Amino acid sequence: MASLIRIVYISRSTFTPAVGTNDIEPNVARILAKSRVNNRKNGLVGVLYFGDGNFFQCLEGEYSAVDTLYAKLQKDPRHKDLKMLSRKSIKRLSFVDWAMKFVPLEAQMNQLLKQHGHQSFDPYQFDAEMVRQVMLLLHGNQQVDDGVEDGPQFNHRHRVQHRLNVAAVAMSAIALTLSATALAVALQ
Ligand SMILES: Cc1cc2nc3c(=O)[nH]c(=O)nc-3n(C[C@H](O)[C@H](O)[C@H](O)COP(=O)(O)O)c2cc1C
Repeated sequence: MASLIRIVYISRSTFTPAVGTNDIEPNVARILAKSRVNNRKNGLVGVLYFGDGNFFQCLEGEYSAVDTLYAKLQKDPRHKDLKMLSRKSIKRLSFVDWAMKFVPLEAQMNQLLKQHGHQSFDPYQFDAEMVRQVMLLLHGNQQVDDGVEDGPQFNHRHRVQHRLNVAAVAMSAIALTLSATALAVALQ
């Protein structure tokens, strides 16, 4: 089975959002339309939120597909200051039915922001708990599949654990050799 990953990143739009309309912001609508076509082709799913000029996007799929898209996203002039909030290896997709879900949850998001003492949708100010709450809201109040942290920190921990395991095996081998030697000496 292919390895799956979920990333959550935030960014600031470089365009000035159109005001005075209840429809989806036209730039965002264009991004969504393209995303849905491409993501279906590339086996990607996820959710996009746009508030107060900031994007919050979750992408799920195979490692290579997600990384290829993230490289494209970093070059897209419609947003800037991309910041990865989380990168996790997952067992299953959570947004399985959504090539790119878009949630215009203004009222509920405003309520959540207020509850957590935020004046506006500024994800650069969110702590880990707030990110978890936003994800919960965007996923229809259902917990997303828990993943395992991926990336340099994870790799570092993994390497340290591996070295500890190797050291433990070496110590056991030495202890065994010493015991065998002691036994051989005692039997002579
Ligand atoms: C906030 C934001 C989110 C985007 N999300 C996606 C996405 O989920 N999938 C996608 O294919 N393109 C997405 N794009 C557009 C890509 O940056 C890029 O323009 C597009 O993938 C290029 O597609 P093409 O190679 O078919 O021309 C997004 C752009 C922005 C600014």
